[in-house]
Amino acid sequence: MERLEPLWSLDVDGPPLDAPAVFGRQAPVVLEIGGGAGENALAAASTRPDIDVIAAEVHTPGIARVLAHIEANGLTNLRVVHGDALEFCARLATASLDEVWVFFPDPWPKPRQRQRRIVHSDRLGPLLRCLRPGGLLRMATDIDDYVEQMVQVCDALPELDGGIVERWDGRVMTRFEIKGIDAGRTITDLAYRRV
Ligand SMILES: C[S@@+](CC[C@H](N)C(=O)[O-])C[C@H]1O[C@@H](n2cnc3c(N)ncnc32)[C@H](O)[C@@H]1O
Repeated sequence: MERLEPLWSLDVDGPPLDAPAVFGRQAPVVLEIGGGAGENALAAASTRPDIDVIAAEVHTPGIARVLAHIEANGLTNLRVVHGDALEFCARLATASLDEVWVFFPDPWPKPRQRQRRIVHSDRLGPLLRCLRPGGLLRMATDIDDYVEQMVQVCDALPELDGGIVERWDGRVMTRFEIKGIDAGRTITDLAYRRV
């Protein structure tokens, strides 16, 4: 962490960030929020050298794993954000992201905890500002009432158009998805386009 974070990490707070300046090129940018161990960000960055990926995660071991893979695989199109992804969005230019991914966000299952969920009307504002018109918000969860909440929150926003979709084959299966399947839960993918 000490050695690699300064090389590949973007600070949560700071002055406005220009993605083309960070990556040294003009390319589509994907932000993954809460990527856990980083399987999706790593797979996307390795298999799609034409895109740039920002992996934001609070959990230190997940960031450490991504940093180790960046170095081991010589990835130049991936950066990590060690901290709150929504706070970090304040640094990004309006309409600078092509896709935002929120896969298996923390479920906060108790009714009184639901306001803490990432996909919440109070929290989508910063994300939507950064998503370019035509850009995609991709989500997946194994929690049925979170699916309902995602649909309710996104359908209420006139700038988003979409809903439940087939499993996106660009999404890597992580231990959170496997845990959901093993427990007999249904996995639901959603995709909303910014109109
Ligand atoms: C249930 S895990 C899912 C991990 C991964 N997306 C997957 O599918 O395997 C949710 C992750 O979101 C992270 N997280 C929660 N709130 C976050 C935030 N505001 N910014 C960045 N990461 C966040 C948590 O630390 C946790 O690792």
